[in-house]
Amino acid sequence: MESAARAHFAAPGGFGIVSGRSDFVILILDFGSQYTQLIARRVREAKVYCEIHPYNLAIEKIRAMRPRGIILSGGPASLYEAGAPDLAPEVLRVGCPVLGICYGMYVIAQHLGARSAGSRAREYGAATLVIDQPDALFEGIAAREQLVWMSHGDRIEAIPPALEAIAHSGNSPYAAVRTRDGLLRGIQFHPEVAHTPCGAQVLGNFVRKVCGEAGDWTPAALVETKLAEIRARVGSEGRVLMGLSGGVDSSVAAVLIHRAIGDRLRCVFVDTGLLRAGERERMETVFAGRLKIALSVVDASDLFLGRLAGVLDPEHKRRIIGHTFIEVFEKEAQAIGGARFLGQGTLYPDLIESVSFKGPSAVIKSHHNVGGLPERMRLELIEPLRELFKDEVRAVGRELGLGADIVDREPFPGPGLAVRIVGEVTRERLELLRRADRIVMEEVEAAGLGARLWQAFAVLLPLKAVGVMGDGRTYESVIAIRAVESSDGMTADWARIDPALLARLSGRITNEARGVNRVVYDITSKPPATIEWE
Ligand code: XMP
Repeated sequence: MESAARAHFAAPGGFGIVSGRSDFVILILDFGSQYTQLIARRVREAKVYCEIHPYNLAIEKIRAMRPRGIILSGGPASLYEAGAPDLAPEVLRVGCPVLGICYGMYVIAQHLGARSAGSRAREYGAATLVIDQPDALFEGIAAREQLVWMSHGDRIEAIPPALEAIAHSGNSPYAAVRTRDGLLRGIQFHPEVAHTPCGAQVLGNFVRKVCGEAGDWTPAALVETKLAEIRARVGSEGRVLMGLSGGVDSSVAAVLIHRAIGDRLRCVFVDTGLLRAGERERMETVFAGRLKIALSVVDASDLFLGRLAGVLDPEHKRRIIGHTFIEVFEKEAQAIGGARFLGQGTLYPDLIESVSFKGPSAVIKSHHNVGGLPERMRLELIEPLRELFKDEVRAVGRELGLGADIVDREPFPGPGLAVRIVGEVTRERLELLRRADRIVMEEVEAAGLGARLWQAFAVLLPLKAVGVMGDGRTYESVIAIRAVESSDGMTADWARIDPALLARLSGRITNEARGVNRVVYDITSKPPATIEWE
């Protein structure tokens, strides 16, 4: 984990700052809040580029970035616990505006000398914010009273003289505070969540009005910068090997790299044996056929399935798959006469969810393209999308002229069907899952639901159930259907799809996927569940 974190924050190859200008970043320092990524999303929606780093990022690095503004996230810790994460005092003196959210606000208050900074007073849920003083943060917000979302365990009871209150709520006398010079601000509520309707405006105001950002960053503006970066990094001779997963991320990354260096990009599609039905053929048609990007298909299913035999633990599966992928790629790289670089479609959320900042942001799943990388991988990584969120990647894809069949394609996890088979992965169980999953794909497409759903797929459960078919008792497998709506995969809601469609799915799956006698629909959102079952 350490090394993944280092690799991320060291941003190898100069992919750290997207714009190529080092003076334009809004820095988000993460204290481990589950919402930190949402802060980044809201800032980018205001067309301002930002990056998330751990709260203890070295002060020299912070200064070198010359941030235009700093946002301190919330966090799960209590300031009153021993070892609660704290900020180096110099961060508040970098000279740019700082906004502390929830825990971030307590940190500011403490640094400014709050006496007993507060008490344990849990507050979770909707609250009414009352704006008491005009402030740049609240510009354009008409009503004095606003609905906001609170989620905290501590409360500030007395603010130090350097701070003044600018808003209160029923429960918090200091729901928003600022220093008299207006450089430091703190808010108790969470502006980044959808439950705070004025939140996007508040964060937008912070980056535009307080920090003075123009708001002209767009994913499209990124394409030219990315092309130049890739060319500079790879040089005039270098070759890149790119693993395609079939999903939108690796496809967009491949097209971007291809545009930068042409046929010095070699795309490899590994048939892991863990693919959805028809996937391999589709990739051949799109890449080799339509895009005219050379594609070699490597059938490594025996290798993958052999190594997965008897493995039940999800993280163990993911690590095996990650390592095996890299092994296959390295062999391929030699076969094409020595590629020095490995292209990957890694996205920003992949990196963040895989990195643990000294505890607070718990590791949820190791994404195979980050956490699973062997320590001494011999290929250097090219990850042109590593700063982007999914919908930003889609925008880049459209900018590159890719069709909807690639850009709007639903995400597919690198470890493939292995994380949709709970329990052991065998050829028979894969076949069964594929038959059921194909029906889900067909029906969702026929119902025209593709654009509404983030993902819809089948999952094979590790249990058998009793049923009756004809006159006989059956004892067969259970399939779960997962269909979710989401804008970025970080949070998701289970889709309220038409019961008639559910009925068709259950009817077809039990009839056509022999070996299944029961179908259930997953009605869990993320959180608390994740989208994939493993
Ligand atoms: P979870 O299951 O964590 O998934 O809620 C969030 C999104 O990420 C996809 N996913 C992956 N993508 N490699 C990937 O490239 C992976 O290891 C991986 N695991 C999950 C998942 O399909 C969903 O869209």
